[in-house]
Amino acid sequence: MAEVVILPDREAAGMLAAGAIAELVARKPDAVLGVATGSTPLPVYRALTRLRLDLSRIRAFALDEYVGLPLEHPQSYHSVIEREVTAPLGLEPAQVAVPGDGPIEAASEDYERAIAAAGGVDLQLLGIGTDGHIGFNEPGSSLASRTRIKTLTEQTRRDNARFFAAVDDVPRHCITQGLGTIREARHLVLLAFGDEKADALAAAVEGPVTASLPGSVIQLHPRVTVLVDEAAGSRLVHADYYRYVYANKPDWQRL
Ligand code: PGA
Repeated sequence: MAEVVILPDREAAGMLAAGAIAELVARKPDAVLGVATGSTPLPVYRALTRLRLDLSRIRAFALDEYVGLPLEHPQSYHSVIEREVTAPLGLEPAQVAVPGDGPIEAASEDYERAIAAAGGVDLQLLGIGTDGHIGFNEPGSSLASRTRIKTLTEQTRRDNARFFAAVDDVPRHCITQGLGTIREARHLVLLAFGDEKADALAAAVEGPVTASLPGSVIQLHPRVTVLVDEAAGSRLVHADYYRYVYANKPDWQRL
């Protein structure tokens, strides 16, 4: 079962996730982090920045990138990761990889090879889309999929239109780690905040495992932490049990 922690707000979730990263890096200074874009992981990066850890030996891999947007566009995930992760955490650009470099035909396989060469991802941060996607694995994505080019749903394009002048400016295609790729990370930390995520989050955690709700693939993973605020956790049927488990957690048990 995933460990589900219902927190008062996103800052508390950010601190808990940053704490898990701190513990990982203390144990393994050359840890490999999986980083995500969007609004959800921002409290994690802010909390992590405040911890002022020595991150000089870590590596980081982003989940996804738009296809059809110049890499230097302010909303490309290359730019977003540089702005939200690489610069504030004082990382060298060479420590951080984002898919989509080089010729697009080779980019997917190159990215898979780079993750494998780094030894795989130790801790993967994930958000969830209102349509249940993780990374940009839209409904219908194979649970065994690898990094590849995908077409974004109209719902995702509307959700992400807030970052662009108009919805028509949101690219239609992306490159994303597959669900099979994400599942190989050793620890998944899925975060969700706000009422608009409540249905997708409940379906991912408690619904059937199905390619129609790609986030449900987390149920096949042996080590998952789900950090939500009250609003995003409001449709969880077993919320009381998750609270009871967390309140009675033995000290020796880490996240
Ligand atoms: P958000 O996006 O963090 O901006 O809500 C999450 C996602 O689409 O995976």
